[in-house]
Amino acid sequence: MNDIVRRYARLQVPRYTSYPTAAEFTADVAAIDQRQWLENVDTAEAVSVYLHVPYCRDLCLYCGCNTKKALRDDVIAAYRGALVHEVALVSDILPAPMRIARLHWGGGTPSILGVDGLASVMQVLRDRFVFEADHELAIELDPRYVTEDLANGLGRLGVNRASLGVQDVNPLVQAAIGRCQPMHDVETAVARLRRAGILNLNFDLIYGLPLQTTASLRKTCAIVAALSPDRIACYGYAHMPHLKANQRRIDERALPDADQRLDQAGIIADEFIGRGFQKIGIDHFARSSDALARAAASGRLHRNFQGYTDDGTRNLIGFGASSISMFKDGYVQNISDVPSYVRAISSGRLAASRGCRLDAAERQRARTIESLMCSFHADLDITAPDLSFDEEFALLQPLARDGLVRIEDRVVTATEAGRSLVRVIAAVFDPHTRVNAARFSKAV
Ligand SMILES: C[S@@+](CC[C@H](N)C(=O)[O-])C[C@H]1O[C@@H](n2cnc3c(N)ncnc32)[C@H](O)[C@@H]1O
Ligand code: SF4
Repeated sequence: MNDIVRRYARLQVPRYTSYPTAAEFTADVAAIDQRQWLENVDTAEAVSVYLHVPYCRDLCLYCGCNTKKALRDDVIAAYRGALVHEVALVSDILPAPMRIARLHWGGGTPSILGVDGLASVMQVLRDRFVFEADHELAIELDPRYVTEDLANGLGRLGVNRASLGVQDVNPLVQAAIGRCQPMHDVETAVARLRRAGILNLNFDLIYGLPLQTTASLRKTCAIVAALSPDRIACYGYAHMPHLKANQRRIDERALPDADQRLDQAGIIADEFIGRGFQKIGIDHFARSSDALARAAASGRLHRNFQGYTDDGTRNLIGFGASSISMFKDGYVQNISDVPSYVRAISSGRLAASRGCRLDAAERQRARTIESLMCSFHADLDITAPDLSFDEEFALLQPLARDGLVRIEDRVVTATEAGRSLVRVIAAVFDPHTRVNAARFSKAV
């Protein structure tokens, strides 16, 4: 079985934070659709909000996010101004003020706006939307920049969940990925956030990085678990040097191969499960008390552009360059180029530049793929009652023969061995991937 899994693990498939994936977005969908979808949104439902800040003090070599090095403070200030302006523009189009159930600041490094900058954007959101009483307010943080003032400021703004980029604690690995971050910085950041009342903490780790070994990862897991995070996201390193210039400085000879990546993913799962975490989906771990674990246990786990979430909200409004919004009828992404984004917003135009429409069939494919990614299982009579999936059933046969998937009537379930390859199983239901698999990262 191990050899079979290793063979499939080399395939390049999407991570399916959406279906269709952002790689399929085209310029056929743009601001005109965004306006229409905003005008028609059901304001009786709550909405989730994502705010993207595409700046960092320095770029890490491995980073695949949409961000760049911030060279001037006036550029950051102009970006903050554009976010404020965009919130006003979008809320003017909504038929009524909507309730916000979740708000997520992502990046880049959102804290680069400073507490006052974040506060000014939060103020316009509070003026234009209604925050639900138990809303989640989350932010991605770089532990190296979590000062006492920042932690306290975030606490005052009502932040109640923080996600810290830890990546790996081994100094040799850190040097190889251009992210020198003494463990002391992480410990201090955690202590400051907890003192400021921000108690829900998530750590991001990455495996498949240069110089990592199963032994070094065991140590990293033990060290980070000792800080008692509620949640851990452990991503497989996505190496895309053709798209990301910073990754060209990674020494490819030091990268673990597909077999080693598979071993690393297995070791990480052993380490965290052995310390009382539950495995959630393909790359998350959570304490049983954490909202994500509770959602997984009760079948309420979802997957959206930020990864696994207990957020069942059907509408997501993204603000900022490259951010993606999700509506019943489709996805729309803002311009990624930051100066063009700022120009569009400053001249009073919506900044959407690409996206895709979702018809009933695409929605059913999306539900099927989300179900597989969240629970390793899809009952097609529930997720896609109108689709026969003849071609898909034929494509699943070799996976079934190899013991990776079980098919009973119209219920598709990844076997224990097939769980680590659920992206490959999901890709069977994605007609786009069959022709362009080369654009994605390794299955494990
Ligand atoms: C936008 S970063 C936010 C965190 C913050 N900027 C920091 O670095 O501490 C979100 C996470 O994406 C993950 N990430 C970034 N580039 C990646 C890549 N090429 N492959 C896999 N994960 C990656 C990292 O774990 C990172 O913490
Ligand atoms: S990993 Fe975080 S800090 Fe590093 S470049 Fe990416 S977004 Fe910036």
